[in-house]
Amino acid sequence: MIWDEIETRACGKAILLGEHAVVYGVPAIAAPITSLELRVRVRPNPNESEPRLRGLLEGDALADEMVRHAWSHVPGLALGGADVLVESSIPPGGGLGSSAALSVALVRALLALGRREPSAEAVNPLAYELESLAHGLPSGVDNTVIAWQRPLRFQHGTEPRPIRPGGVFHLQLVDSGERAATKEVVAGVRQRYERDQAMYLAIFGAITALVDSAEAALLAGDAPALGRAFDENHQRLQTMGVSTPRLDALCERARQLGALGAKVTGGGGGGHAIVLWPREPTDEQQRGLEDVASGVVCRPVTQLADESD
Ligand code: PMV
Repeated sequence: MIWDEIETRACGKAILLGEHAVVYGVPAIAAPITSLELRVRVRPNPNESEPRLRGLLEGDALADEMVRHAWSHVPGLALGGADVLVESSIPPGGGLGSSAALSVALVRALLALGRREPSAEAVNPLAYELESLAHGLPSGVDNTVIAWQRPLRFQHGTEPRPIRPGGVFHLQLVDSGERAATKEVVAGVRQRYERDQAMYLAIFGAITALVDSAEAALLAGDAPALGRAFDENHQRLQTMGVSTPRLDALCERARQLGALGAKVTGGGGGGHAIVLWPREPTDEQQRGLEDVASGVVCRPVTQLADESD
């Protein structure tokens, strides 16, 4: 097959509510973070017989497995040798969807090369398979929100429900500077769940109620109510053992500095906190957060608003 170079992109994501519990069938709310982006460029290489990763992920065994899996799962495509160049501003292991963005961008590229419409519905099943190589048994929230690129309510096994925010929400991702592998943090939760299912089922019930109230708050443009849901969800994540002293300190400081709420986002064990501000935070507020520990960095504010028209 003769084909030309193709380039695709995928954004980052943040889980607003329900991470970890979502693995057990609880709903979650997530939003795309378009200031973070992963780019895949695929170009034919007649000197090779199969796809080869170049750039950022060259030599990365997991990414290599994802590329090979993707290549072998698009029927009717005989691409031959190719260079697969990956560039990304999504920090790996930071809870912002780096592996899901790679999955989505790879599938978008393959569908485009197969002259198929890379719609979210077409992208998502194979992207989920690729995510599974990275995470074991993921809930699917990450690849879904990145494939749809819209804020949504996600529950495993049901259609995602897009959410049109009824106001503007000022969200800030704050990097703790600590890193953890999502797969290991998820496995730790599983062990603790097996030991005390009754306690975990009670936590999951509480998180379901928080997701419901957070969805209502988003739709109504009620930022203080969303902030309260963040804080309560953070407490549950602490009980589940996925926060760290530094993430706790960051969330506490954010509240002291005037945030409406703050919590761990994504896999935890490190990574990022997500902070909800009543308005664009001042330099002083952001410096106040960065002073919590060396390595803490405030990312640019994401304004969550209705962008569907
Ligand atoms: O850390 P991330 O960006 O991979 O997010 C993982 C989200 C979890 O809920 C912890 C796992 C999952 O499969 O949903």
